[in-house]
Amino acid sequence: MNINLLGRRSFLRSSTLFGSALGLSSTVKGNEFLENTSFQPKPKGQSVIGLRTAPIAQLRVGFIGVGNRGSGHIHQVFACGGKAKIVAVCDVQNTKVENTKNWLESKGVSDVTYYSGKLTAWREMIKRDDLDIVIISTPWEDHVPMSVEAMLAGKHVAVEVPAAYTIEDCWKLVNTAEQMQKNCIMLENVCYGDEELWLLNMAHQGVFGNLTYAECGYIHDLREMLLSKDYYYNMWRIRHNEKRDGNLYPTHGLGPVAQYMNIDRGDRFAFLVSMSSKEASLSEDSSTLTDSSNEFHAHHNYKHGDMNNTLIKTNNGRTILLQHDIVTARPYSRINMLAGTKAFHNGYPSRFSKKGAGHGYLNDEEYKILREEYKHPIWNKMEAEIEKNGGHGGMDFLMIYRMIDCFNQGISLDMDVYDAASWSVVSPLTELSIKKGSAPVNFPDFTRGRWKENRKLGMLEIK
Ligand SMILES: NC(=O)c1ccc[n+]([C@@H]2O[C@H](COP(=O)([O-])OP(=O)(O)OC[C@H]3O[C@@H](n4cnc5c(N)ncnc54)[C@H](O)[C@@H]3O)[C@@H](O)[C@H]2O)c1
Repeated sequence: MNINLLGRRSFLRSSTLFGSALGLSSTVKGNEFLENTSFQPKPKGQSVIGLRTAPIAQLRVGFIGVGNRGSGHIHQVFACGGKAKIVAVCDVQNTKVENTKNWLESKGVSDVTYYSGKLTAWREMIKRDDLDIVIISTPWEDHVPMSVEAMLAGKHVAVEVPAAYTIEDCWKLVNTAEQMQKNCIMLENVCYGDEELWLLNMAHQGVFGNLTYAECGYIHDLREMLLSKDYYYNMWRIRHNEKRDGNLYPTHGLGPVAQYMNIDRGDRFAFLVSMSSKEASLSEDSSTLTDSSNEFHAHHNYKHGDMNNTLIKTNNGRTILLQHDIVTARPYSRINMLAGTKAFHNGYPSRFSKKGAGHGYLNDEEYKILREEYKHPIWNKMEAEIEKNGGHGGMDFLMIYRMIDCFNQGISLDMDVYDAASWSVVSPLTELSIKKGSAPVNFPDFTRGRWKENRKLGMLEIK
């Protein structure tokens, strides 16, 4: 069967915003989340806050999806040497599997099992009894079915961003992780950036005083890639712009801010309001596509507004402005702005100012001293490996290394399923707010009340 047809059908099937086919149980329907976003389904097991598993000396890893992103994860897991073992790799496209096989064999790794050729081949892979974790880097619509089935098959899961894009699916991840007592980490690499970890350190050591406000976002002109027939598998990403209006990709900007602000570790996202501009860029670019065999040639019905602005209020009174713009000429930025009673930081480029030091930013010399003083110890300790293995300036390697290291040591992972759900749920909540004329929409409390506990982030324990 034609892969394009299969792909489109699978997108339509799983993109139903609150479809009851994805119901958590026969008594809980997607509509309940639509009517009351604070609704909490019945838990299926104990909380996984602080979950620890017995140390695993060598983590056995399987991969689903080795396209643009998944192939990078293969490199990073390989770079971790004997701390992990690549056991199995699955991609529906045989060429992707072949590329991975060739690369691994060129590195002397030949004892890997490969799965390909059909959309359901991953189901065979996750049945294996020699896998500890499955890394999922597939289109968004596949994240939840693959994560849930992998956990039910007894595997830990590391899933790409965003982990889910319906409220119901966020709860599915939480309930399944609790039922199976498995880790479900969302691979939010930006939390491991040098600048972000430096800010995290300063925020938690009181340099900013009382945190009040942040601005963050994902500003990245992806038009060429969205409209390319070949960049994303079956052009999966533009289909979301076609069908949905909201913040489709919230977690790169928001994840680090959530960690600065102790979200679900003393504070929580309370509600948001969201507004999108009109859509213009993709329609305009579609009309200039010369290839009439491109499905999006002269296409005009994109639902997604060019710029989405969202305001989030936290329980402790902080506010966050979150932006999403993937279709304008604005230069790349995640903004990374943080304000407190004693200091202020703005990103792109990074600048810092503090109370009582005039109205300007620190000069280069002062900035460098501050940067050194609060540099995260892991960036000092692992500078050479980070530089060698790279990936978005080193954050990709560090994230994978740290996750594997936590399993090796048998300690809790830095990010848990509640982070995955609380950060990802921004997408459906913004869609809902927009549908209701930018009305306020409450966040679900995925921790079921435990957000009040002042848990310390693992990354802040490293000396
Ligand atoms: N954290 C980051 O910095 C970052 C960067 C890029 C992408 N991503 C995320 O990574 C994920 C993948 O994005 P991408 O850019 O690599 O897309 P992609 O289209 O390049 O890769 C997706 C891969 O999944 C495969 N696939 C699709 N359906 C499958 C199935 N049923 N079974 C097995 N394989 C299947 C495709 O063949 C393809 O190789 C997305 O969730 C995206 O948001 C994250």
